[in-house]
Amino acid sequence: PIEVVRSIAALRVQTRTWRRQGLTIGLVPTMGALHEGHLSLVRLALDRTDRVVVSIFVNPTQFGPAEDLSRYPRDEAGDLAKLARIGAHLVFMPDVAEMYPAGFSTWVEVQGVSEGLCAVTRPHHFRGVATVVTKLLNQVQADLAVFGEKDYQQLQVIKRLARDLDIPTAIGSGPTVREPDGLAMSSRNLYLGPEERRTAAGLYRVLSDLADALADGSPAGPRLEAARQRLLVEGFTEVDYLELRDAETLAPLDHVADRPARLLAAVFLGKVRLIDNVPVGPA
Ligand code: PAJ
Repeated sequence: PIEVVRSIAALRVQTRTWRRQGLTIGLVPTMGALHEGHLSLVRLALDRTDRVVVSIFVNPTQFGPAEDLSRYPRDEAGDLAKLARIGAHLVFMPDVAEMYPAGFSTWVEVQGVSEGLCAVTRPHHFRGVATVVTKLLNQVQADLAVFGEKDYQQLQVIKRLARDLDIPTAIGSGPTVREPDGLAMSSRNLYLGPEERRTAAGLYRVLSDLADALADGSPAGPRLEAARQRLLVEGFTEVDYLELRDAETLAPLDHVADRPARLLAAVFLGKVRLIDNVPVGPA
């Protein structure tokens, strides 16, 4: 069985020992309910570092008041079995009081990349993510921490805070792992009914076609509008956003120029909100 620690003190005993032995440390932060997307990041960390810590913590501060934190899927036994099987070395599973002791009052706010896109419907989400990730980076003091491109705005927020706060951990990323029909893997896919599940695959098709169409530098406006209509025709309930942004700064773009760009979308299928994004190469 894989080793599990629940306190920051016990985590530090283990990481200190590894560091004294000259071993490098990788960190993969998660909220559990692990699928192949998460596991791909753990494998990436195992390839690049000697010892890999996976954190499992459903972070209450990144959930909005209307989002049901208590409904977030949890599968501790399943998660530990998957992590043991692929050879992760340590699982850090703090409870809420360990991460947010009484009197907690410090927040990490990242301007610029945290604004717009997902922040419009989830106003304090990135403040919660930035704060918990800063804490995890300080707790583990890993050489490398790995995040998924699936949550592309989150990845840019984390890269920015690590640079701005002089955090010595390198921030790495892994590509989005998809189901055979293209749907990005997500714990939320479990909430989709059979017909919604079929519709959901259309999001990646629409994004991929749009990325091809925009790669030549043509004006994005009309094509974004057409893609938005296509999503609604295919059966999506609502398009929260569909935008072309600079891949690094996330500044809005009206066409692809000489820098890498990214198409990002959030859509609703009934009550389920799905996000995805694809690269758009420079012309
Ligand atoms: P969670 O949603 O559990 O995701 C953990 C990590 O797995 C994130 O870096 C996310 O981008 C990545 N991931 C999720 N689905 C993926 C997929 N299909 N392919 C590749 N990577 C994927 O993201 C969070 O947790 C939290 O916000 C966290 C960073 C842990 C802070 O609480």
